[in-house]
Amino acid sequence: MEISAFLIAAAVFFVLLGAIWSVVAVVKLRKKHPETLWDWSKIDISDLSFPKNFIWGTATAAHQVEGHNTNNNWSRWEESFDKKGRPRIQNGDKSGRAADHYNLYRDDIARMKDELGVDSYRFSLEWSRIEPEPGKYDQNEIKHYHGMFDALLEAGIKPMPTLHHFTHPIWFDDLGSFEHEKNLEHFFRFSELCFKEYGGKAKYWCTHNEPGPFATMGWALGVFPPGVKNYKRLGQVLHNLMRSHLGVYQRIKALPGGNEAQVGLVKNMFQFDPYRRWSPLHWLICRISDGIYNESILGFLRDGVFRYHFPGISKIYQEHPEAKGATDFIGLNYYSNLLISPLAKQEPPFKPLIRKGQVLTDMPYATYPEGFYRALTKLKELERPIIVTENGVPDAKDDFIREDYIRRYLYAMSEAIKDGADVRGFYYWTLMDNFEWAFGNSMKFGLYEVNPETMERRLRNGSKAFVEIIAQHKKDHE
Ligand code: BGC
Repeated sequence: MEISAFLIAAAVFFVLLGAIWSVVAVVKLRKKHPETLWDWSKIDISDLSFPKNFIWGTATAAHQVEGHNTNNNWSRWEESFDKKGRPRIQNGDKSGRAADHYNLYRDDIARMKDELGVDSYRFSLEWSRIEPEPGKYDQNEIKHYHGMFDALLEAGIKPMPTLHHFTHPIWFDDLGSFEHEKNLEHFFRFSELCFKEYGGKAKYWCTHNEPGPFATMGWALGVFPPGVKNYKRLGQVLHNLMRSHLGVYQRIKALPGGNEAQVGLVKNMFQFDPYRRWSPLHWLICRISDGIYNESILGFLRDGVFRYHFPGISKIYQEHPEAKGATDFIGLNYYSNLLISPLAKQEPPFKPLIRKGQVLTDMPYATYPEGFYRALTKLKELERPIIVTENGVPDAKDDFIREDYIRRYLYAMSEAIKDGADVRGFYYWTLMDNFEWAFGNSMKFGLYEVNPETMERRLRNGSKAFVEIIAQHKKDHE
């Protein structure tokens, strides 16, 4: 055989081998990561059941609802512009008064008690108020939050504080915040102070809210402060956030009352599903994204190892044996999945791909209750109780999909519980219309609509499904 014929035959052989290998790999991946889709026409969404002491709640974050925050990374970001001179926030919105929850929290708590009938309230402690300058604590602000804890307890509502929900003081931001491991000491000190102050008033504590979105929006997509686009630095930030969670967890446990407290990380889950389920390229992008966004965090708590890999740019592998199981519960924030295609736009604003039967919410993300079931089932691998710390829908069109959304997602959760997920509670995101970060004031997630002029609250019609389900559950377990 001539050399050229031999080379051609060898090339054909390797191409075929490659093709067979990728088909086998794709078949395996399809089996391992099914994109569950239910036929809703055959489902009775009223068939719900939740455990007896199930916790029903609603959640907020300080900067999004309090108003009058002027000393944190977000208040500064809201005043800044990108390189082309455009405001950072959609429509140039600012958090401003937000929902004025700082002044109106007592009325809001009364609403939670009398109208919603929730058992618990998740909110965050605004670090920039409590420690406006390094090491200097504002006693009035410490007192303010005592007022909130006490008002909740008086109303029979259990407080669930979050220590870091995307905001921190400007001085901490100037130090490079979570990009540098040495800065974590500041956050540890703040967390210890909070636990010493309020530890006796709350059983469940959230350390960090969503390391994944906080880090990727801030250090990869550049739409959150500090507006960086760098996958190497993203890896460092994610690693430090996990170190930070671990450090806070260990420090709280070492304090008086720490062993009785339940301290957990809040994990946002987005599944990355290939738009074309037979495409090796689609799968490749999905697995890399999942590794960065989900596995880096889950693996830390599950195996005690931090793994991060952005091909050709950054690879981190570090063992942290003491991190294995270092969370008393896992908080789950779930909204949707992302259907990935290399042809889809890679920069915000995204226009997500959707499957037949799915509806695009305002944010925009697709409604995907089956994904909520998948996320709850997936989290079983951490062998810790799960608390759904956020789930909700932005729906400005006067309750276009809110009721359906609530009923279907709660149905999915009920199914996951039936199938063995140890879910202890569910917090609806969010209590009232708020400042939705880079989207400004345009997203209407609230159970309550807020009139921006008068600050009046009105319970939305679609929210009544949530109130009804809580009441029914309580009746069933009287
Ligand atoms: C965040 C919230 C946010 C919500 C809706 C979560 O990622 O924790 O602060 O408002 O999603 O986008």
